[in-house]
Amino acid sequence: MINDIRPLAAGVRLRPATLGDAGSFAEALTRSRAYMRRWEPVRPEAFYTPQGQAQRLAGLLADRDAGRAMPWVLADDEDRVVGAMTLASIERGPFRNARLGYWIDVERAGRGLATAAVGRVCEAARDGLGLHRVEAATVVDNTASQRVLTKAGFEQIGTAPRYLHIDGAWQDHRMFQRILHDGPPHS
Ligand SMILES: CC(C)(COP(=O)(O)OP(=O)(O)OC[C@H]1O[C@@H](n2cnc3c(N)ncnc32)[C@H](O)[C@@H]1OP(=O)(O)O)[C@@H](O)C(=O)NCCC(=O)NCCS
Repeated sequence: MINDIRPLAAGVRLRPATLGDAGSFAEALTRSRAYMRRWEPVRPEAFYTPQGQAQRLAGLLADRDAGRAMPWVLADDEDRVVGAMTLASIERGPFRNARLGYWIDVERAGRGLATAAVGRVCEAARDGLGLHRVEAATVVDNTASQRVLTKAGFEQIGTAPRYLHIDGAWQDHRMFQRILHDGPPHS
């Protein structure tokens, strides 16, 4: 489930992120920068460089090795990054929960990729990571992201005032969750 070989769509698959994706991440994030600005924290210029992405990925992969995160990329048929899905803040014990974040390359948006990938990530969270719940938060007017979550089986559970610092301000967010199963905890 973590290494799912089924294609997501024609020419696009979901696979675990690697350090070797840094250059491709920098290109996709640079290409999509203006498109993503309203929904993202303000990033330093270094974030858009291969070196900045290598540093970010190294941290994320260390978190993965410690069981706290699971980063995937959406890769095209030349294995270039065209989006990303990340489960972060993974907790076990009685919570068995993770936070979901994602983006899709501006050139690939609006074709159902995010919805398909969120569905796959939830399968991996349940069957591969043994989680019970995935949560996500969107800026109140990020309608596309809310639509993705609703299509992927999430329910809105409330609104959190001034929840995250996005596009230069503490912004209210809609909070979503998907319960993955009602069985006992398993690993
Ligand atoms: C949000 C995002 C991930 C969606 O990716 P995607 O691959 O285009 O998503 P999908 O094609 O699976 O679904 C998008 C849905 O939103 C709808 N949508 C898109 N733009 C919209 C808008 N401005 N208003 C309302 N609905 C919108 C689409 O019509 C579609 O719904 P439908 O299938 O019912 O027609 C992508 O736009 C993105 O990366 N945005 C910038 C980063 C971001 O917002 N990340 C999420 C932070 S919570």
